[in-house]
Amino acid sequence: MSQEKRIPQHVAIIMDGNGRWAELHGLQRHEGHAAGIEPIRASLRAAIRYGIGYLTFYAFSTENWGRPAQEVDALMELFCQCVIHETPELQRQGIRLRTIGDNTRFSEKVRSHLARAEEQTAAGDRLTFILALNYSSRDEITRATRQIAARAAAGALDPERIDEATLSAALDTAEYPDPDLVIRTSGEKRLSNFLLWQASYAELYFPQVLWPDFSEEEFDRAIAEYDRRDRRFGLVK
Ligand code: FPP
Repeated sequence: MSQEKRIPQHVAIIMDGNGRWAELHGLQRHEGHAAGIEPIRASLRAAIRYGIGYLTFYAFSTENWGRPAQEVDALMELFCQCVIHETPELQRQGIRLRTIGDNTRFSEKVRSHLARAEEQTAAGDRLTFILALNYSSRDEITRATRQIAARAAAGALDPERIDEATLSAALDTAEYPDPDLVIRTSGEKRLSNFLLWQASYAELYFPQVLWPDFSEEEFDRAIAEYDRRDRRFGLVK
């Protein structure tokens, strides 16, 4: 049997616990989100070290619009500042930035900063860094279904021929492999509308650490745990 560590090809992360971290440190919630940038950098470094091809972060859910306006505004500003400041480093590291989710609800400013960063990093071939923004699985599947139904109604698609591949290809993640490992920090054990279709066979890992304290060593622990899991995909081994 090979002694080589099994490495996931795609890791998806639910960054949870920023608010609790801020409270613990006597800070405002938005400061907790700002402290959540360094763990993203640490995860990108670790992913490159392992040769992981895809890293997805749940940065803003469709439900997050319901948070206080001040917090939503601070998150929007953080997305803009972050893509402006980090893009040169992403380019240097060969990291390609992409987004999933319905970006039509974002301001023109946010959309243009994201589009520019995606364009400027398009040649990155070491790692695909995917931000889920205004994302939820139910919304994604609903949009995909609408698109498939429109094609069927136009006579371009025979409903009898709709299969899993048709739906996968209509999702925002069509170009990416399914996640092998989903990490949610802060000890909460939920998927919260994140990659529900794509994570059907993913290993789930729920460390206690709050997201701002997630480090390269925490990432190493997640990979070690993944290596110990016995993935059977519904088969007998
Ligand atoms: C969940 O913690 C975290 C979020 C809703 C936001 C995550 C966003 C970032 C870390 C910023 C990312 C920026 C870029 C550019 C990707 P919570 O607020 O729900 O924490 P709590 O459960 O402790 O209140």
